[in-house]
Order: sequence, then structure tokens, then C-alpha cells
Amino acid sequence: MGSTPAERTNSPPPSALPGAISLSPLHSLRHRQPVNLREFADRVVLVTGGANGIGTAIVRAFHNQGANVFFCDQDGAAGHALAKALGDRASFRQIDLRKEREIVRWIAGAGKGRIHALVNNAARDPRIALSETSIDDWDDLFATNLRAYFLTCREAAKRMQRDGSIVNLASITFHQGPAKMSAYVATKGGVLGFTRSLARELGPRRIRVNTVSPGWVMTERQLKQFVTPSVKRQIKRAQCIPDLISPEEIAEVVLFLASNSSRAMTGQELLVDRGWYHS
Ligand SMILES: NC(=O)c1ccc[n+]([C@@H]2O[C@H](COP(=O)([O-])OP(=O)(O)OC[C@H]3O[C@@H](n4cnc5c(N)ncnc54)[C@H](O)[C@@H]3O)[C@@H](O)[C@H]2O)c1
Repeated sequence: MGSTPAERTNSPPPSALPGAISLSPLHSLRHRQPVNLREFADRVVLVTGGANGIGTAIVRAFHNQGANVFFCDQDGAAGHALAKALGDRASFRQIDLRKEREIVRWIAGAGKGRIHALVNNAARDPRIALSETSIDDWDDLFATNLRAYFLTCREAAKRMQRDGSIVNLASITFHQGPAKMSAYVATKGGVLGFTRSLARELGPRRIRVNTVSPGWVMTERQLKQFVTPSVKRQIKRAQCIPDLISPEEIAEVVLFLASNSSRAMTGQELLVDRGWYHS
């Protein structure tokens, strides 16, 4: 019988290290314990678009870590229901992220003192042909998917200090370039460019800015509107690992980028797509 790598190096198994997550040999990628980073307790975290989909998973993930989560959305019913279900340390405000004044008021009223993390998640992804796209459609999408990211960063950065972290959601569609999504893909390209330059600007203050680009994530809305059995087969063929992606798996990568574990990373894009595209 050969020895295990841990036996050969005399180092303790990972599960014996303080704070480590214990993984059984039969551990499944999809049904394991969530991470416990133990560093977000009582920290102020802001999340946009937290009432549905990936945003809800992000709100829940930070809340589970003990953070004070302030989230906004234009969907008042779902937002209030989530805040009520979570109870203490979850605060919801109904706003329209296309409106500067509403963003400024939301962030000014989000807790006291230092903001630790801002997650820009809210966006819309309409399928619309070039010939049918009006100036209003284009401007409206950019106001939601890109201008709002700039406004939240401007306001939140005023209350960020050393170790602050901004995480912006983009999309693998930027790498894929699907038809009838040119405005959406252009906004996501904008998010990537914005992230890179802002990382340089805020770096001297030790504030980090990174992007998470999800693959095709099985949110309620995606399942209802787009994910047919044949789309599922297409996704499974395209990804290196054929399992479908859950919103919670995106949220865990966002936690990582907001945590001290990623302190050497800024200006980066992380593709969370089970290997559909390679960055
Ligand atoms: N779901 C996917 O497969 C997928 C793939 C790649 C990237 N993404 C990105 O992940 C993020 C979340 O996507 P999702 O699928 O969870 O979306 P979703 O539609 O399920 O949720 C988005 C939330 O943003 C809110 N919102 C939209 N416009 C708003 C506005 N003007 N003001 C306030 N709130 C507003 C909506 O009400 C909604 O609650 C987006 O940035 C999206 O582009 C998602």
C-alpha cells in the first residue's frame, strides 16, 4: 500500500488545520458544506439586485457569514419578503438603480461607518435584434447595467478603507458574443473595462475591484424563460464539467473575492462557468 501525500510530508491533513473545511473522500461538488470565512461578522456589505436570482444567493451568503447586509432592488415584494425571512442584519430598500438620487440616498443610509464590500449584481439581459433596438432601449440598458455600477462605486468608495472590496458581475457572454444580445454584451464589456481602471485608481487606498463572470446559471427566471431540456443538453456539452450551475456557487466566489483570502487579487475577471470558456 502506498502512503498518502500527507503521510509522506508529515504535515497534518487539511481537516486538522484550524478553521479548515473538512471534506470527505466522497465529497460531492454540489452538496458540500458552505464555506465559513469567519471574517465578515458585523461588516457592512452592499448588494444590488438582491431580491431575485444570483443576488438573493449573494445576500444569503454574506448574511450566513454574520455580515450586516444592505441590499436594494426595484422588486419591492420579493426584497421585503427576503429581508423579513432573514431577520436581523438584513436591510432592504426598494430603489431604481437608473436614478442617481435613489442610489446616493440608499448608500448614505446603509449602516454607519465603514463599508467593507459592494457587490454590483443587478442587470437586465434582454434578447433583442439590432434592427429592433432603439436609442431608448440602448440607453436604458446602459443606465442599469453599467452607469449604476459607476454610481454605486463612486458613493460606496467614499466610505471604504483599507481591505475594502468591490465585486462587479459581468458574464461569459462577453467572451461568447451571442447574437441578439449586442447591447447586453456591450454593457458587460464596459463592466470589465470599468473594473480594470478602477482597480488601478483605488489600489493605492488598498481597495480591490474584481469581476465575476458567471456561466449559464439556473436561476428561477432563467429556468422559466430560457432553459428547455435541449438547452440543458447544450450547456452540459459545452462545459468541461457537465453539471448545471446554481446561484449559490456564484455567491461563494463573490464571498472569496470580498474576503481576505483574495487580498492579492485586483483588476481580475473570474469565469465561474464550469469551464465553458477559458480566461
Ligand atoms: N443567470 C445567468 O445565467 C447569468 C449569466 C451571466 C451573468 N449573469 C449576471 O448575473 C447578475 C444577476 O443575474 P440574474 O440572472 O440573477 O438576474 P435576475 O433577473 O434574476 O435578477 C436581477 C435583479 O436585479 C433587479 N434589477 C434589475 N434592474 C434594476 C433596476 N433598475 N433597479 C433595481 N433593481 C433592478 C431585478 O429586479 C432582479 O431582482 C447580472 O449582472 C447578470 O448579467 C447572470
